[in-house]
Amino acid sequence: MKVLLGVGGGIAAYKSAELARLLMQQGHEVQVVMTRAAEEFVGPLTFAALTGRKVLTNLFAIESAIEHIAVAQEHELLVIAPATADLMAKLAHGLADDFLTTLYLAFTGPVVLAPAMNVNMWQHAATQANLATLVKRGHGIVEPGSGYLACGMTGPGRLADPETIAAAIERAAHQRRDLEGEAVLITAGPTQEPLDPVRYISNRSSGKMGYALAEAAAARGAQVILISGPVHLPPPRGVELVAVRTAAEMREQVMQHLPAAGIVIKAAAVADFHLSKVPDQKVKKTAARVSLELDPTPDILAELGRKKGDFLLVGFAAETQNLQQEARRKLESKNCDMVVGNLVGGSSDLGFESDENEVVLILRAGKDISLPRASKRAIADRIFDEVLKLRLALHAANGS
Ligand code: PMT
Repeated sequence: MKVLLGVGGGIAAYKSAELARLLMQQGHEVQVVMTRAAEEFVGPLTFAALTGRKVLTNLFAIESAIEHIAVAQEHELLVIAPATADLMAKLAHGLADDFLTTLYLAFTGPVVLAPAMNVNMWQHAATQANLATLVKRGHGIVEPGSGYLACGMTGPGRLADPETIAAAIERAAHQRRDLEGEAVLITAGPTQEPLDPVRYISNRSSGKMGYALAEAAAARGAQVILISGPVHLPPPRGVELVAVRTAAEMREQVMQHLPAAGIVIKAAAVADFHLSKVPDQKVKKTAARVSLELDPTPDILAELGRKKGDFLLVGFAAETQNLQQEARRKLESKNCDMVVGNLVGGSSDLGFESDENEVVLILRAGKDISLPRASKRAIADRIFDEVLKLRLALHAANGS
């Protein structure tokens, strides 16, 4: 692939040399474009030696006045690493006063930004607003890592590893925008059902599967509403997060957001039982045995299945045995269009908490589709591939 590597003026510019080397090693053609500030940190000669190409720097020191247009047209992907606060502000607002920023405006392919800066600069409202603009524009963002920064502070702001940036480039190169115009409602994570003010019943769901689905949908251009139980994950960029705690709260938020949704995916591990009357005070420890009388929580998926209008409904089934059989039973009893079945617990190291999963897609009509072990993010993309096929088939069947 023909890749443009824009280098901004930050201390992390030296790490971009490693990125250039990695991209070359992966067989890409790399054309480096440096800002004037970047040249203060690393000499263009370093990049020229690594890529075997003259580095583009000054807008006015090149052969043709329209070279930035020609360069933009000749390349397939633009990655900017490090993307400094200043560069991100310029890109967000369309300011174009050097080769890289003019090139950005002339470039029509996928763009990946790998920000790096001081933690306060990163967290500043201005930077975050610019970032939101760039995310909305569909650019891939490689989140900065957390740690000790060159400025002596600790926190997020460190340029992501070259391997992580290279993986994001690969993803962006193959990124489809086939969910543009779709509103997708996703539930994720566990619910917590209080037993008293300090105790609750919950489960092992980390939210990773649901968050991967939200990230995939947003990357494919969907408007995403993510209704999530308590998890320790940052919400994916460009996604509207609605935080809930209990099954009842999740139900309320799902029903509230349902009218806007064309696709509903229920990846949350909703508690099946709760205590209807939660004591106001902490239950005191006694020597006596305690037993709990629990009532069922609302079955949100079943309620959605009963409503079933124009939206496409995808449920999950977490099973410890008879996966396909149980998942199909859920598909039918809850009137879903698809159920994603995964084995959990026991000897399975997949399903709950892991970064990977292995699932079977049960369809109302058609053969079951087994998706072998892969990252939850990759599984999420495969689920959306099938959801879109299902959508097309339903439209064809309805003659619309
Ligand atoms: O979060 P991770 O750590 O990444 O783990 C991912 C996962 C294992 C939680 C996920 O892949 C998964 O399987 N989610 C569904 C878990 C679950 O509750 O399965 P279930 O078979 O008990 O429920 C079937 C379906 O009904 C699910 O879509 C569930 O969201 C829904 N449900 C269940 C109970 C209830 N009261 N309301 C519901 O809507």
